[in-house]
Amino acid sequence: MADQTYINPDYVAEPDKMNVKKGLEGVVMDTSSVSKVNADTNSLIYRGYPVQDLAENCSFEEVAYLMYNGELPNKTQLEQFSKLEKSYRDITPGNMQVVRALPKKCHPMDSIRTGVSFLGCEDERIWDATPATKMDKAIRLLAKIPTMIAADYRNKKGLDVIAPDKNLSIAENFFHMCFGKVPQKEIVKAFDVSLILYAEHSFNASTFTSRVISSTQSDIYSATVGGIGALKGPLHGGANEMVMHMMIEIANPDKATEWMLDALANKKKVMGFGHRVYKSGDSRVPTMKKYAQVMAQVTNEPKWMKMYDALEKVMVDKKKIYPNLDFPAGPAYYMMGFEIDFFTPIFVMARTTGWSAHIMEQTANNRIIRPLSEYIGSAQRSVKSLSERH
Ligand code: COA
Repeated sequence: MADQTYINPDYVAEPDKMNVKKGLEGVVMDTSSVSKVNADTNSLIYRGYPVQDLAENCSFEEVAYLMYNGELPNKTQLEQFSKLEKSYRDITPGNMQVVRALPKKCHPMDSIRTGVSFLGCEDERIWDATPATKMDKAIRLLAKIPTMIAADYRNKKGLDVIAPDKNLSIAENFFHMCFGKVPQKEIVKAFDVSLILYAEHSFNASTFTSRVISSTQSDIYSATVGGIGALKGPLHGGANEMVMHMMIEIANPDKATEWMLDALANKKKVMGFGHRVYKSGDSRVPTMKKYAQVMAQVTNEPKWMKMYDALEKVMVDKKKIYPNLDFPAGPAYYMMGFEIDFFTPIFVMARTTGWSAHIMEQTANNRIIRPLSEYIGSAQRSVKSLSERH
């Protein structure tokens, strides 16, 4: 086995040539008109609109339209868009068979990755990359991803799958397909807000992955599957699940301070804290925290938000590291009644809008993404025949 950490002892970095940006930190890879994360002002805009304003004043459907079209819809445009999205919610019997054939123990992120891949197999126009067709595929993904996630949820629990209800919004319909009923409006609003906040975040790891795949002129399904693969990791979207596992492990808010001090003393990475771009707070957190607090009130379950405050206080006091969106989203989804391993698939439901917007932008003005690496391996050598090698 080759030593994966091997560095040629004769390797000498040439300061003027050696310009490695580990993790691409600080690298501006391309222009984009989809969103802007401004670390200096802790702000985030989608197509010019502050995300907090969108969360308070718009539905997820309006934000999805904004992502794809660059402008918020008027009433007629929204009606047409929603009508089309609702008409695409059903999945084929073949797709349902795929969901049912998946091992019951596989993670729902693996299920949705497979489901989206299957959508690509079913699409006879997979290579058609004209803007109108790509937009149509983006709306199909928006409509079908929640259906596949909910079907997987019901199937894993041994329950009958519930068909989408075309009279309901995306958020209402998701509750309906998972639980067979739509909860009170405060819960639906909190969920809708989470979808808006999760919809887009510039060149994050999963969006960048989608753009790299699109840059090869591959199709939107492949790019979305790649995005799902990147989002699954605990350093990215998978953190919302890890936050809840951590809170359940702590169990008692009175133990949270001690738990965090211990974690910091042991140099543990605490999930739901820190961000590559924001260094003094995530713009989306105050809004999501407000709705997590609403969830605590409507479910009469104050424990998780008490724990939230205690953990945040120690982390900010000791390390000046702030919560990211996954920190309030984790307990909010838990209080909504979702199983923990469905938190990141819910993130997929939302982020498919951002991914598709970026995929369309990349396609419209494409250049293949192909960076360089600095070689630190063995110096050039000649191949010995098999008998000469010891
Ligand atoms: N818990 C404890 N320490 C943390 C931390 C966390 N969640 N996030 C960052 N730090 C510390 C690092 O240990 C490092 O300290 P050091 O300089 O003493 O070694 C410093 O802050 C910089 O962190 P680094 O991991 O280099 O930042 P990054 O930009 O490479 O990574 C994240 C950003 C988001 C991947 C990272 O903060 C993290 O792993 N967070 C937890 C996972 C998470 O919540 N992900 C969702 C992101 S939206």
